[in-house]
Amino acid sequence: MVDDYHQLREAAPPAPQGCPVNHDWSPLDEDYLADPYPIASRLRSEGPIFYAEQLGYVVITEMDDILEVFNNPAVYSSEIVQDPVFPLAEEAKAVLAAPDFDPQKVMSNRQAPDHGRIRKYTRQGFSRRRLMTLEPYVRRRSNELIDDMIAAKAGGGAPVEFIDAFAFPLPGETVFRFIGFPEADDERLKQWCSDRKAFSWGRPTPAEQTAIATKMLAYWRYCRAFTAAKRDDRADDFASELLAAHDADERELTYREVESILYGLSFAGHEAVTALICNCLLCLLPRREQWDQLVADPTLIPNAVEEVLRFESSQISWRRITTEDTMLRGIELPAGTRIFMNFASANRQPDLFDHPNEFDIHRPNAAQHISFGKGMHYCLGASLAKFEAVLVLEALVDRLPTLRLVEHQKIWSSANITFRGPEQLLVDW
Ligand code: HEM
Repeated sequence: MVDDYHQLREAAPPAPQGCPVNHDWSPLDEDYLADPYPIASRLRSEGPIFYAEQLGYVVITEMDDILEVFNNPAVYSSEIVQDPVFPLAEEAKAVLAAPDFDPQKVMSNRQAPDHGRIRKYTRQGFSRRRLMTLEPYVRRRSNELIDDMIAAKAGGGAPVEFIDAFAFPLPGETVFRFIGFPEADDERLKQWCSDRKAFSWGRPTPAEQTAIATKMLAYWRYCRAFTAAKRDDRADDFASELLAAHDADERELTYREVESILYGLSFAGHEAVTALICNCLLCLLPRREQWDQLVADPTLIPNAVEEVLRFESSQISWRRITTEDTMLRGIELPAGTRIFMNFASANRQPDLFDHPNEFDIHRPNAAQHISFGKGMHYCLGASLAKFEAVLVLEALVDRLPTLRLVEHQKIWSSANITFRGPEQLLVDW
């Protein structure tokens, strides 16, 4: 850990002049990973902006400043959002140096004007109509996975580990159906698409980095082969829509961009939704009276999901880098300053949310959280993620109304700076 921090500090630009410096805190601290909220709240009360020496980033803690950053993409660029926080090991770099591994930056880390051009086509694919075509699939798979959980318990397999049994397979399979990948490929696709959060946002060992890089390469090759086959085998799916856009104007959406969009969605649509589903259970099951209200009245579920996204989001930070000298909160930030936006702080700001540390499925302004970002990079999958979480909770309150967390289990989140959700979750009913 000390070595990790040392590496980071070596690479980090110094604190901007006049910016308060915090010498100690890092989002990878054990206590912050265990429960970020009291610490995020203390950091905010100490000041809205500071330089975190351990991380090499300027941290902003208040919603207004986060919105200012999100709403000024020309000054605060997203080009670093997918970059690994820690330098990659040589072995992992060697894997990704394969001559055919060349996915393009297409969305979250692509800049104007190309970002808008590509997003226009991608947005069309995330239409209400396409979500509706997924609904029967998500309902069916949710029920099948619950059937399997019930069978496992009947066979003496209780308590059930909910991530393996449900929360990992469902979001992956949903995004694969969305794209149009065949169900027969699900098992290998799921293997290739896990652990990506550790790769860019955590501190994996060189061996782990290499294993993840190998899966990324295999998945990229799959996406290329799939896109090539899809050219002659169109269907009512997102991949076919992108190819149709490419056919209509090859310069507006290039073939390599089509392949790269499909590749990028594997991560975007996967681990954060797994964590969201688990975080729903972590928030709701111990607050029995609120769970019981959802059992009695499932129409309360959509707002409950918004409250989970505010109170215990699966994404509690995001990054930017300044493209020019600028001023934020009276501090001069030189070009090249790296910014860490602390959602864990802003989502619990007491001047925005009454009793912010209370979880309340009836909170009227729960949806004002910042968990999907804002502005031109606003999460493209926000509706899909919420739609999935709502359908999942509807299935669970219906089929397993007595669902509960196993008592005294150890709950931990993976060591990374951004994504938050349990690594294991034992349930029974
Ligand atoms: C709970 C689940 C999710 C959370 C918390 C989440 C959060 C975010 C955040 C914070 C951003 C960055 C916004 C910005 O930079 O302004 C983002 C971007 C994005 N998300 Fe999500 N996301 C989730 C699920 C999904 C899903 C299911 C998909 C797609 C299947 C998806 C696709 C994307 C894409 C493509 C972008 C980049 C958009 C752009 O740059 O124009 N996300 N997401």
